[in-house]
Amino acid sequence: MSGASGTGGLRRHHVKMSRIAIVSAMAQELHGLQQGLSGARCVQRAGREFWTGRLGAHDAVLVLSRIGKVAAATTVTLLLAEFGVERVLFTGVAGGLGPARVGDIVVADTLLQHDMDASPLFPRYEVPLYGLSQFPVDAGLSAALQVAAASALAGLHLEHLADFGIAEPRVRRGLILSGDRFVASAPEAAALQHAFPAALAVEMEGAAVAQVCHDFGVPFAVLRSISDRADDSAHVDFERFIADVASRCTVAILSAFTAT
Ligand code: ADE
Repeated sequence: MSGASGTGGLRRHHVKMSRIAIVSAMAQELHGLQQGLSGARCVQRAGREFWTGRLGAHDAVLVLSRIGKVAAATTVTLLLAEFGVERVLFTGVAGGLGPARVGDIVVADTLLQHDMDASPLFPRYEVPLYGLSQFPVDAGLSAALQVAAASALAGLHLEHLADFGIAEPRVRRGLILSGDRFVASAPEAAALQHAFPAALAVEMEGAAVAQVCHDFGVPFAVLRSISDRADDSAHVDFERFIADVASRCTVAILSAFTAT
């Protein structure tokens, strides 16, 4: 054995796992994930509880983001500035657009703030001084999440999905829209779809997470279970879906992701 390969092996053995944050938009998801966290410790900052410990093979921090872009940005900034986090996964539910149906999982490719409008100073939707309207995710992290989502869905028996008219939930990749508005009318959903034909989902935090991670140069991914169609029955479907399906689904996906 050469000296070089011997030291390489030793070094590999001592490589420090990069710390991952799992940020949930919903308490139900967070509680499910917390049950798998070993050596859990809680640190409070800015009214939030940050749970550190080991999740599967990972050194992890779990936290509830709260709702909306500012709350999510504050949460992620704290994770990056104070908790030594090197990768961020954001999970939650979203309203489905285009082909995305209730029960589907959407893993973001890019994220955009649909309520950003500094025109005529900057083009509509562009985040001023970034020269960007769509923020790209980390390709590797998102691909791993997509694989975990597909394998978790295949092994999950979600009897309640039939109540939502879902036979076979699908994992989709694409554009997710974020804004400080719960979209709950068919005309509003149609207007978003018209403005962004490629959009698959609308929610209230993802693009803020993307902007903060972009600022810090930290890889991130966003995973959303579709809870409603962002139409007039969105609020009813949203409550039922979270209680019956979303939390179990996300926990299964993240367990598959953190197992490796
Ligand atoms: N999260 C879940 N459903 C949503 C909707 N219809 N609009 C915004 N955020 C959501």
